[in-house]
Amino acid sequence: MKAVINGITLGYTDRGNGTTLVFIHAFPLSKSMWLPQVDALKDSCRVITLDLRGHGESDTMLWNWTLDDYAADVIGLLDHLGIAQAVFIGLSMGGYTVFSLCRHFADRVHAIVLADTRAQADTEEGKAGRRGMAQIAFNEGASAIADLMIPKLLAPSTIQRQPDMVEQVRQMILQTPSVGIVADLMAMAARPDSTDLLTLITCPTLILVGEQDVATPVAESRYMADRIPGATLVTIPEAGHLSNIEQPRAFNHALETFLQRLKE
Ligand code: MLT
Repeated sequence: MKAVINGITLGYTDRGNGTTLVFIHAFPLSKSMWLPQVDALKDSCRVITLDLRGHGESDTMLWNWTLDDYAADVIGLLDHLGIAQAVFIGLSMGGYTVFSLCRHFADRVHAIVLADTRAQADTEEGKAGRRGMAQIAFNEGASAIADLMIPKLLAPSTIQRQPDMVEQVRQMILQTPSVGIVADLMAMAARPDSTDLLTLITCPTLILVGEQDVATPVAESRYMADRIPGATLVTIPEAGHLSNIEQPRAFNHALETFLQRLKE
């Protein structure tokens, strides 16, 4: 499905009825990464996935967008669909977007799931790394980015044993225009630090992380769990950064348990 939100055509899916779940994807992927969650939850919840601007089926516009723009698009889509509040599930860059939602649209947030993400802003070294990667995307395109990112996104055991999954992730990256990749990198480099926000989060919070995540290691999730009041932390064995794809059963089980508790 498509809708024009904030002047940009965005691709999204909207399945099922019940509590609204909005899934926000990682860098440099698309809403397709959430297929295992859509399949598992569409019979019990209203499940929405969207392609952030510059990804998947959404239009690409050349500018230095911020994560606040991504968050405003998510809210614009909810307005379009007539939804007041939702549970927001963001993985990595999707998690950074969830922080922006908590900062600017707290009244729309029923609960949050922060998967394989971190609260800290980029260090100077991290920002320099983003600049280098943007240059590679510009010079060599998405395939060079896929080569760089796959070892960061997937656990070594996944890369060794699940070639189909590796290919699926590569294809998702190849479908992301270089302009979208560069815009993400600029947005992530410019994102504010969210550590002060953590103690102010009052909604129910689930934190999920792959045990072998090298991009946002378990310690980052522990840091968030220690500060967000009442947050639950679940680590997912035999998963790297893309824990929802690598171990969908464990990821979905943790999510379903959290959603069940929201109803009690
Ligand atoms: C992501 O998976 O969204 C990225 O690894 C996040 C980042 O580079 O900070």
